[in-house]
Amino acid sequence: MADPEKHPFLQGLSKHRGAPPTVVVIFGASGDLTARKLIPAIYNLSCDNLLPADFHLVGYGRKAIADEEFRTMAASAIRDFSRRELDAEVWGRVAANTTYVAGGYDEKAGFDRLGAHIKDIEKGVGSEVQSLFYISTPPSVFGPIIQNLGASGLGGMYLGSPRHSKVIIEKPFGRDLDSARALNAELRSVFEEGQVYRIDHYLGKETVQDLLVQRFANAIFEPIWNRNYIDSVQITVAEDQGVGTRAGYYEQSGCLRDMIQNHTTQLLALTAMEPPGSFEAEALRDEKVKVLKAVEPIVLGAAADTARAQYAAGMTGGVSVPGYLQEKGIAPQSATETFAAIRLSINNWRWHGVPFYLRSGKRMPRRVSEIAIQFKCPPGTIFPRKDGFNLAPNTLSFQIQPDEGLGLILNAKVPGLETRTQPVKMSFRYATTFGSNTPEAYERLVLDAMIGDGTLFIRGDEAETSWKLYTPVLDYWRSMGREGMEEYPAGSWGPPGAERLIAARGHAWRQP
Ligand code: BG6
Repeated sequence: MADPEKHPFLQGLSKHRGAPPTVVVIFGASGDLTARKLIPAIYNLSCDNLLPADFHLVGYGRKAIADEEFRTMAASAIRDFSRRELDAEVWGRVAANTTYVAGGYDEKAGFDRLGAHIKDIEKGVGSEVQSLFYISTPPSVFGPIIQNLGASGLGGMYLGSPRHSKVIIEKPFGRDLDSARALNAELRSVFEEGQVYRIDHYLGKETVQDLLVQRFANAIFEPIWNRNYIDSVQITVAEDQGVGTRAGYYEQSGCLRDMIQNHTTQLLALTAMEPPGSFEAEALRDEKVKVLKAVEPIVLGAAADTARAQYAAGMTGGVSVPGYLQEKGIAPQSATETFAAIRLSINNWRWHGVPFYLRSGKRMPRRVSEIAIQFKCPPGTIFPRKDGFNLAPNTLSFQIQPDEGLGLILNAKVPGLETRTQPVKMSFRYATTFGSNTPEAYERLVLDAMIGDGTLFIRGDEAETSWKLYTPVLDYWRSMGREGMEEYPAGSWGPPGAERLIAARGHAWRQP
């Protein structure tokens, strides 16, 4: 068990970041995300003594499940998915305050029962507690849940109210600009913006937060973080897995909605934004919105800034795998992309003329996410690119996952009696410096929401700004059907169109 005094990630944390007494209510309590991420996150927060003394967990869902059965499900989720083994004593403390309420999402009576249950918890605690409603259901029921939280009086208790409530809403936050606007309007009819925590779990990743620390806690980067020194930026979020058992969801989504609009674009915003005035939620989110608004509209049609493709049969990890169209539950003529590449231009003083290349896909050679900042070459180098002078552009790469860390490619002299050069890599690895038991994104996010820190969550206008950028692409692709859809063999880095897209400006994709 981690000792909060000794664990390097936790020193000082529990003393400063206490959450008030809290009831976390999970809607979609028997779902996949609850088992894989939310229950293990809560358990690990408990291991680190970061849960408030009066912490209660309530599962809510349509299935009739007894309290004891829900506890058993939660314990097995911890066994299967937690980064730490199940410790009976730690889990026992959480389990003693874990209950379940069965009810429909469009059934107000169910929410009234939930309200009564929370009141009972408060009686036991002897004071009011904050309620944190975690909406972890399919998006079709986001609306009914929000409405019923309002109708039953559970949602609107905020400013000037003795009791605080908050809502965490899982992705997808809409499927285009109109639906994101409608969802924001629905949320605002019940909650204040300050009560709403829109999840993008990439923001909870240690390495993504480290990007901010690297940029703004080191003096050496800011002077060169601009078009005078940076040639181009590549952001890759690659997965080796295929669509798996999520065909129903994925067919409605596709790579642009599933990965680019949210995770990859968040990485772009953190890389490209101006330094915020402080590390406060609003200061940081203002800057992200500002840079996203400066992204120029994406060019469609001929000479497009985009490439899209589906994986064909191929090999990953030495195993033959079927193509997307052969996967179970996928329409034979599906026009859903499993890979997307986008070239973005940011029209501001800092980035004018620097292309940002984004790519993401399923069934790529390996799971890897990285941000690579490629610097310009030295002017008129005295080391000509021949005669053993092997030079590479300086590249700073943020290794988001796996093998988390930071690398810098420099050109060095090869030892010997003549002058020859070779690119070398300086690396910092989390695992070697800090040990490998890094907290999971959801631990940080659940804790932050309990505390009321929205820094690592998406603000409403931010979600809309991002959708505004990509909705014309989605509309265009829909109008084209399968025309222009390329293929790439499973286990490869993407289709020829992605190569053309980047080669058009004289660049090439890195092999991360
Ligand atoms: C989710 C997507 O948001 O992120 C999935 O819906 C994807 O399709 C997942 O697999 C990737 O997350 P991570 O943390 O494993 O990179």
